This record gives sequence, structure tokens and C-alpha cells, in this order.
Amino acid sequence: MKFLFGGKGGVGKTTISATFALMLAKTRPTLLVSSDPAHSLADIFGQPIGSSEKKITLPAQFKGELRVLELDVQKSLERYKETTRQKLANLNINFDFDFDKYIDKLSATPGAYENALFDQFADLLLSDRDDRLVFDTAPTGETLHLIQSADLIDQWIEIIISAREGVLKLKKLYNGSADDAIIDELREMKSKFQGVAKMLRQPQTHLIFVLTPEKLAVEETRRSLETLQKSRFPVRGLIVNRILPEDVSAATPFLKHQKKYLQAIRQKWQNLILGEIPWWRDEPEGLSQLIPFAENLRRTKLGNFVK
Ligand SMILES: Nc1ncnc2c1ncn2[C@@H]1O[C@H](COP(=O)(O)OP(=O)(O)O)[C@@H](O)[C@H]1O
Ligand SMILES: [Mg+2]
Repeated sequence: MKFLFGGKGGVGKTTISATFALMLAKTRPTLLVSSDPAHSLADIFGQPIGSSEKKITLPAQFKGELRVLELDVQKSLERYKETTRQKLANLNINFDFDFDKYIDKLSATPGAYENALFDQFADLLLSDRDDRLVFDTAPTGETLHLIQSADLIDQWIEIIISAREGVLKLKKLYNGSADDAIIDELREMKSKFQGVAKMLRQPQTHLIFVLTPEKLAVEETRRSLETLQKSRFPVRGLIVNRILPEDVSAATPFLKHQKKYLQAIRQKWQNLILGEIPWWRDEPEGLSQLIPFAENLRRTKLGNFVK
């Protein structure tokens, strides 16, 4: 099973996905992956975490296996540059320009960062490992861009492939079956995008949005749900986080606003709500906090995944 948490910055994606992964880890080995450039998993678990899988040291009485991984965008960009360099070199084309400068320029283009990240995300999502995967995803805009791009880029690649085939036919180099490195490369890219799009539509993949009962979070969630619905990616549910208790008298104006938005969320998305999480009095950081905080999640529909 795979779980992806999306939502606006600051609503609690990292907190909820880390706690959820901790909960899942009790019954089956779980890998938590974060593409958050803020690298907040280290703070949440109170342990150093890096860009290679690390097993979290859990209290002795807590049986389970949790691994975490923080994707390092800078590193993935370097790797992306290196593979591009190698792939271009393998093509054996005589470039009459500065090859290295070209690669550097290529990796400075706006899409390169997303490309590098998407590549790692796709490899993890499509790997046939049998532990459970939890993705603490990047903020909504990028996430949607990545997810949506699966189908769009797919169409784009198809156009490039036929253009390339046309050129080769003209040059009488291609008879429909001959090997062509560029076409192979495009086909590989295409199958990765198709794989991701397909995976996101499978019943064992759960795309879940986290939001707080606040205007901007509600608005952004509404837009995300609309966009995903248009691209036919199912959203499995919502987690409404950081709900103030009724008795915070000093915060009355906040409470009034929150009630308004909580009501709106309940009315609009009643069937999608998987759970409502209270405002935790302490910062939900460190295992000593996360373990009791996990009880909040266990009481929601997310708890059903642990049985
Ligand atoms: N239920 C909660 N109660 C209190 N504080 C919370 C709760 N959920 C998250 N937080 C705090 O809110 C802040 C933002 O949460 P975080 O998980 O980093 O959000 P995101 O990953 O969506 O940017 C953090 O300081 C976190 O400790
Ligand atoms: Mg985060």
C-alpha cells in the first residue's frame, strides 16, 4: 500500500505523514519519504536523517520497523546532470558546442529541479518493494504539477517520438524496428510517466489531503480537488488538522473563524473526511510526543489501515 499526503504548506503534512508512518510501522515495515526541502523529518524524529534510507531508532517497547528517507534535490539534480551527460555521450553524436556548458544550462532550467525530483519519486513509487510507502509530498502546486504532468508529458512524448521517426524515415535510417537511442530514451520516459499515472489510480494508492479549518487552506484544497478530478486522479480523503478545542476562551475570535470553516468543510466534503485531529497542546515533535499524538490518528479512519 502507498500513501501520499498533499496540502498547503504548514497544514501538517509532515507531522501527519510521520505519525501515520510510525503507526503503520507497528504492523509492517514502512518507508517514509519526504521531498520537503525544509528537511523537517529530522526535527520531528529528533534524529539525523539523510538522503539514504535510515532506520529510525524506536523505543524498546515499540515493536516495528520504520525507515525514512529525505530526498535531496541538490543531489538528485547532480545525478540528473550526470545521467543526462552519459546518455548524450552514449548517443555518439558529434556536438559542435560546449557539451558541459549545455548540461549545466539544462540543469538550470525551471523544469530540471522537478524532473530530478520526479525521477526519484517515480522510481520509489514504482519499485516493487513490499514494505508500505508513505510520501510526505511537496506543497500542493508542485505536487499537482508533477502528478498532472504524467498524462500531459505522455502526450508530448508521443508527438516527439513520431517527429523523430519521421526524421529517421526521411534519412532512410529507420524502418520501424531499428534501434534508435533517442526513441528508446523517450519510450523509457513515457513508460515511467504512464506507470506513475496508473499507480496513482490503483486502489492500493491513497492520495490524501491535509487541511486546517482556515480560509486559505480550504480554498487551496478546493482547487486541488478540482484539478485532480479533472485529471481523473482519485483523492481518497481529507484529514482536517489542528482543530482548536471548544474551551479556548482566550482565542474566541479564532474559534469563531475556525467553526465557520470547519462547518464548511464538513458540509462540502462530508464523505471525504477521514479524520479530524485536535490541536495538540505541545509541539508534536520527537518520538515521546509522536507516540501519544498517534492516538489521534488511530481514532480516525486512518486507524483502519493498521489493523
Ligand atoms: N495537530 C497539531 N497540533 C499542534 N501543532 C501541530 C499539529 N499538526 C502540526 N502542527 C505543527 O504545525 C507546524 C507545521 O506542521 P508541518 O507538519 O511541518 O506542516 P507541513 O509539512 O504541511 O508544512 C509544525 O510546527 C507542527 O509541529
Ligand atoms: Mg512539511
